[in-house]
Amino acid sequence: MKKLRSAGWFGKDDKMGFVHRSWLRNQGYPDDYFRGKPVIGICNTWSELTPCNGHLRDFAEVVKRGVIEAGGFPLEFPVTSLGETIMRPTTMLFRNLASMDTEESIRANPIDGVVLLTGCDKTTPSTLMGACSVDIPTIVVPGGPMLNGRFKGECIGSGSFNWMVKEKLLVENYTEADILEAEIGAARSQGHCMTMGTASTMACMVEALGLTLPGAAAIPAVDSRKKVMAQLSGRRIVEMVKEDMKLSKILTRKAFENSIVVNAAVGGSTNFIIHLLAIAGRIGVELKLEDFDTIGSKIPLLVNLKPSGKYLMEDFYYAGGLPVVIKELKKYLHNDTITVNGKSIGNNNSNPVCYNTDVIAGIEKPLQENAGIAVLKGNLCQDGAVIKPSAATTSLMKHKGRAVVFETMEDYHHRIDDPALDIDETCVIILKGVGPVGYPGMPEVGNVDLPLKLLQKGVKDMIRISDGRMSGTAAGTVILHVSPESSIGGVLALVKDGDMIELDVEKRKLHLDISDDELQKRKAAWKKPEPMATRGYVKFYIDHVQQAHLGADLDILQGGSGDEVTRDLH
Ligand code: FES
Repeated sequence: MKKLRSAGWFGKDDKMGFVHRSWLRNQGYPDDYFRGKPVIGICNTWSELTPCNGHLRDFAEVVKRGVIEAGGFPLEFPVTSLGETIMRPTTMLFRNLASMDTEESIRANPIDGVVLLTGCDKTTPSTLMGACSVDIPTIVVPGGPMLNGRFKGECIGSGSFNWMVKEKLLVENYTEADILEAEIGAARSQGHCMTMGTASTMACMVEALGLTLPGAAAIPAVDSRKKVMAQLSGRRIVEMVKEDMKLSKILTRKAFENSIVVNAAVGGSTNFIIHLLAIAGRIGVELKLEDFDTIGSKIPLLVNLKPSGKYLMEDFYYAGGLPVVIKELKKYLHNDTITVNGKSIGNNNSNPVCYNTDVIAGIEKPLQENAGIAVLKGNLCQDGAVIKPSAATTSLMKHKGRAVVFETMEDYHHRIDDPALDIDETCVIILKGVGPVGYPGMPEVGNVDLPLKLLQKGVKDMIRISDGRMSGTAAGTVILHVSPESSIGGVLALVKDGDMIELDVEKRKLHLDISDDELQKRKAAWKKPEPMATRGYVKFYIDHVQQAHLGADLDILQGGSGDEVTRDLH
């Protein structure tokens, strides 16, 4: 076995060895804990302010059981937790901060291997990005989805129903009591959103990358089998340390390609793109925005989950979960990529049984062909923009319409329901100022509500274009991640009311239909907005954040610094 990293702290017989061990002994660890046991850091994103991760305090104890059984020394540590439904202005502003916290917490401490306890959307990519920059053996334990939401005898998806509240109250005459009942019924157990939103997408992403034990992604948070998975993960990380199975051995280009294929088949969130690009950037794998289209767009949709489909994560688990999807996708995957249990992804998923083909369709009879994310190009998005066709309206995929422009989110809120607003269902809603730099933090606002007067007419969808993101739980013909963003002078900034916008998803085209002369004139007249912050982390973020097509990581965080710290604290 390779010399343990932790021996650099605990294995010393000098003054500093004394210091490193002595204070930790106040927790009551026997002496043999400091004599050659692999130290396993349990990186916990638990927080009462991150309700989706509220159960992870208990889970850490279960992981510890496994670590101790396998002969390791578990030490739990907290990192910045990002609660999607509570943090303002958006958790995405803090994803990179949380990744820095994770990276430095791992590197600075005597940790040989790490277990990432994750759940809510950003808690998976942030911790994984940080771990990649250190590159020691790492296993992910996804916290699991909530049980299906229930309301008026039916299943409702947390994170999906909320997008319909305006319509339900104002158009379908729901009472406030109805909405309260839905609010309570949508979140009736521990866990993260149970739609195929970003949290579930991230759980599937890490399983497809090979970073969880097989089948981990779909198990509901309150199912006892989730705890079994946590305990087994605790056992396995100790072995991984002995095998020196670090992240870079698992996270190859092929593993990333597998993840893109799987994401298309599960109908995963568009946020997947931005997070996977950032993770690849940390581990040093070349991945481009165009890869998501080239590799993923021809993949069929197999999983019938909201927001694209009908069911929820609990149903997905009972139907067989991600192993069934991976088996069905065999001909599209690199089946020889290695996973945390030391076996290949093909080996791990060779024999699962599908118990409900209405929830997970077979590859011969998919729910939809060509379901992956489409990457658009054109003068409106020179570095790209994305659309999720499986969540969009087919008749709008080729469309030319008049732009109705909102300069900021506040402008949108102020005018969208104004009866005098000149808009109809053929128009294209343009929302500016919601990119990484502009908001700042690229919030999930791309799926803005339609104007009330059109909802009342029965209009269900319209083309909406922005430099922001969209919640993975939302749906619609929504074009996102326009790059370069408006606040740094992207062409989106130059769109005016009445301009014609042309979308052709099949041709991957997004075009602002004005002459080059006019475009140049508008460019020359454009004035850069004042930065949204002049101090602190937000200023630092604005100065360093990269555009969406690069994963919106900070430029200075690209790559890694390894696990070595040459200087001691004295
Ligand atoms: Fe946490 Fe949806 S709000 S996963």
